[in-house]
Amino acid sequence: MNPRVLLGINIDHIATLREARGTRYPDPVQAAMVAEEAGADGITIHPREDRRHIQDRDVLLLKEVLQTKMNLEMAVTEAMLEFAEKVQPECVCLVPEKREELTTEGGLDVEGQEARVANACERLARLGSEVSLFIDPDPAQIDAAARCGAPVIELHTGEYAEAVGAEAAEVAFNVLVDAVTYARKKGLIVNAGHGLNYHNTERVAAIPGINELNIGHAVIARAVFCGLKEAVRDMASILDRARGRA
Ligand code: PXP
Repeated sequence: MNPRVLLGINIDHIATLREARGTRYPDPVQAAMVAEEAGADGITIHPREDRRHIQDRDVLLLKEVLQTKMNLEMAVTEAMLEFAEKVQPECVCLVPEKREELTTEGGLDVEGQEARVANACERLARLGSEVSLFIDPDPAQIDAAARCGAPVIELHTGEYAEAVGAEAAEVAFNVLVDAVTYARKKGLIVNAGHGLNYHNTERVAAIPGINELNIGHAVIARAVFCGLKEAVRDMASILDRARGRA
C-alpha cells in the first residue's frame, strides 16, 4: 500500500474569528486539539508581523499541548528568528510576508536572497527544527532551496488552485508534477499547500513524491457547517483516497 500523505491543518483562521471581536473564543489551542483528534498529522500556524490572527500566546501554549508537531510558518526576519529560538518548534516553514496581503501571495524568493535564507536555515537547523521553504514550483527556486541546505520545500499550489478553467488548471497541475519530480531527484522532501479545498486536493495528493499537504481556509470554512472534527476527517479521507488507502 502506498504511504499516506500527511495532513497539516492550518488553524490561523480560528484566530481570525477570535480577533474579529477581540474575545477569548474561539481558541486556536482548542481547535488544534480537535484537529489532532480527528487525524491531523501536524498543526500549522503563522504568527504574522502584524499579529492579525495568531498571537504569541497561542504559539507558546500550543508548544506545550500539541501531541503531533508544530509547523511554525514565519517571515525571514530577525524578530521571528529570535521568536523561533524561544519556541523551538519541530518544523519551521519560511514564507514571504507583505503587510497588506490577504494571505501569502507567491512563494519565497530564495534565489533572490540566498545568503539571508541560508543563514536562517542554518540558525533554525541548530535548534533541531526541520526547515522548509515555501516556494513557487519553479526549478530555479528549487535549486536555490537545495543550495540553502533546507531539507524540505513546500510548493505553492496557488496557481493550480486559482486557475480559471480546466485548461489553465491542467497547465498549472503539470507544472506542479514536474516540480515535485525535480525536487525529489535532488533529494528534497516535498510538501505543498495554499488554496487546496475539498474539490482540488485529491489530484495533488495523488502526485507521487508528495509528503505532506498543509490546508487551512477550506477546512475551517467547512467546520462552520459541520464541525471541525468532521471537516478534518473529510479532508483526511480525501488524502487516503488519493493514495488508494480508502
Ligand atoms: N502553506 C503555507 C505556507 C501558507 O502560507 C498557507 C496559507 O497561510 C497555507 C499552506 C494554507 O493555505 P490555505 O489556507 O489556503 O489552505
